[in-house]
Amino acid sequence: MPSSRKVRWGILGPGGISARLLRDAGSAANVAVVAVGSRDRARAAAFAARFGIPRIHGSYEALLGDPEVDAVYIGTPNSLHHPLTMQALAAGKHVLCEKPYSRHPEQVVEAFDAAASRKLILMEAFMWRHTPQVRRFMELLPEVGELQSIRATFSFVMTKTNDVRLDAGLDGGALMDVGCYCVSGSRLVAGAEPSRVSGEQVVGPTGVDLSISGLLRFPSGLVAEIVAGFTSHHRQLEAIGTAGTLLLRDPWLGEDGGIRLGDRDIAVTSDDAYRLELENISAAILGEGQPLLGRDDALGQARTIDALYRSAATGAAVSLGA
Ligand SMILES: NC(=O)c1ccc[n+]([C@@H]2O[C@H](COP(=O)([O-])OP(=O)(O)OC[C@H]3O[C@@H](n4cnc5c(N)ncnc54)[C@H](OP(=O)(O)O)[C@@H]3O)[C@@H](O)[C@H]2O)c1
Repeated sequence: MPSSRKVRWGILGPGGISARLLRDAGSAANVAVVAVGSRDRARAAAFAARFGIPRIHGSYEALLGDPEVDAVYIGTPNSLHHPLTMQALAAGKHVLCEKPYSRHPEQVVEAFDAAASRKLILMEAFMWRHTPQVRRFMELLPEVGELQSIRATFSFVMTKTNDVRLDAGLDGGALMDVGCYCVSGSRLVAGAEPSRVSGEQVVGPTGVDLSISGLLRFPSGLVAEIVAGFTSHHRQLEAIGTAGTLLLRDPWLGEDGGIRLGDRDIAVTSDDAYRLELENISAAILGEGQPLLGRDDALGQARTIDALYRSAATGAAVSLGA
């Protein structure tokens, strides 16, 4: 039976996703959000007031030095994920880091090695993987027969011009922001890592990809097609097999979902992906469960993202070794 212990969480970066994470966190029995850190103390204070967080820090370093914090959630732009994770692990904190952890496989290896050597939990925050609708989708997958292809899309229309997603210096870009979900979904459905990828991108004036399309070929010969970007609205995950098709309508956010198997609608339970993710990693930190996502998944993500970007830059397919 789970204990009544709680992991004491600190939030690094009081931005949009940190606020979304906390929307339902109060109902997680094993979670106490005790601190928030910002580069600006007033921003941390405003966030703390909004979510009833008792401890306020005017720098990330101060939060990482707080002995009342067991674990940190990193909700900063992409380029800060790895350096902040390394600092947090060095300070003895468990880490839930926003996606994508990194596009550099060697950074993933360095971070998970550091976590393992300190007996700390590190997880990449692909919240979509924690939902009951994804579990149901994977249970139903055998119904399509032998898999022939996978289609994964995630696009939205970017209206802001100063968004961190458009900043090349912060590792923005469509593949980093939304395409990484398509990579995650394709790898999950395929149950394997791609052996060859090719990508085509449209780069905007700030130097980041505004859209990207890619093909991931898996060792079995199965091919996944991914489409992601900031210029249209679309999101779905579809598995196409010899016996039929299985479609998850809103795979990544799970807000407007439902599963369709052939011409049949399948009922799914909806739940808050972010709270489920926090509960999962908190249970792992308390020694009461396993993190859903670990080193292998984060490494598969980084290797595929890196290969897609290399292919898009050169126009040539990129092979991924065993
Ligand atoms: N899982 C999901 O559903 C999901 C959804 C959206 C975003 N994300 C991920 O979450 C991360 C943050 O995205 P967001 O939409 O929350 O961004 P955001 O609203 O712009 O917030 C980012 C936060 O990071 C901090 N920060 C540190 N250095 C910064 C810099 N140089 N420029 C701008 N902000 C900086 C800021 O806090 P202070 O300056 O106050 O310290 C800011 O509040 C990204 O990695 C993104 O991929 C995940």
